[in-house]
Amino acid sequence: MKVTVVGAGAVGASCAEYIAIKNFASEVVLLDIKEGYAEGKAMDLMQCASLNGFDTKITGVTNDYSKTANSDICVITSGIPRKPGMTREELIGINAGIVKTVSTSLLEHSPNMILIVVSNPMDTMTYLAHKALGIPKNRIIGMGGALDSARFKYRLAEALGAPISDVDGMVIGGHSDTGMVPLTSHATRNSIKVSEFLSEERLEQVAADTKVGGATLTKLLGTSAWYAPGAAVSGLVQAIACDQKKIFPCSTYLEGEYGLNDICIGVPVVLGKNGIESIVDIPLSDAEKAHMKASAEGVSKTNGLLEV
Ligand code: 2OP
Repeated sequence: MKVTVVGAGAVGASCAEYIAIKNFASEVVLLDIKEGYAEGKAMDLMQCASLNGFDTKITGVTNDYSKTANSDICVITSGIPRKPGMTREELIGINAGIVKTVSTSLLEHSPNMILIVVSNPMDTMTYLAHKALGIPKNRIIGMGGALDSARFKYRLAEALGAPISDVDGMVIGGHSDTGMVPLTSHATRNSIKVSEFLSEERLEQVAADTKVGGATLTKLLGTSAWYAPGAAVSGLVQAIACDQKKIFPCSTYLEGEYGLNDICIGVPVVLGKNGIESIVDIPLSDAEKAHMKASAEGVSKTNGLLEV
């Protein structure tokens, strides 16, 4: 199992590290355009192999896509991260060109790849890759919901005073500060609806804190987060690599599902060896349907800024 991660910045390197530590991939290629940077990160990570007990071979390359050839799964993290006060959508001007170039270069060397898009604005970048590559939609996946759901579970556990291992919850919709849809009506504490423990007002606060989870960290860190994004991507890569048939909320191209067309946005999907094995249709409350519709309108507006 060969995985390529483009972008050896904080998110890409964290993703490579978590993939290696989980030890399901034979090889991870880390590629960056900055001379020597990916090579350095890969060497540093490989010097953790005996300490963290993995056999995955991590190699770094500078802008040489031939070294990514025949990758099973490719991850795009490259592009600029946001600064405090910025929205993800404001990154489109620079990141769209990067994602288009990188995704086509990857496909040229790995014609059968499954692509995971992380670069922001992620839903629009996923849509761009879909339009630019022309490969089956099950092989193009946007990572945002897995990260947002992790932040949702963090906030739920905090509100419940419960261990995160007892909490389950999912965020669908756009990966944006205003467009996320935390499914509070579905969230549970060990199979019990969280509404049995938390008031509507507290749940609204949990949802609000979840939606700005990325911006909260960007304000604290001065740049975008990287540990949880990297871990979230590694979970998607593992589900595909190990054919786990796990459900994650992922950005995928919709053709009528959830009443939406010609858009990439976060919905529950089953991930396995074919990438997106299926899209899962779940019942939404009227409020959740309205939030999803508004979220899609926001993503479509950002898509309109593309020159595909
Ligand atoms: C985040 O929410 C980088 O979009 C990513 O942290």
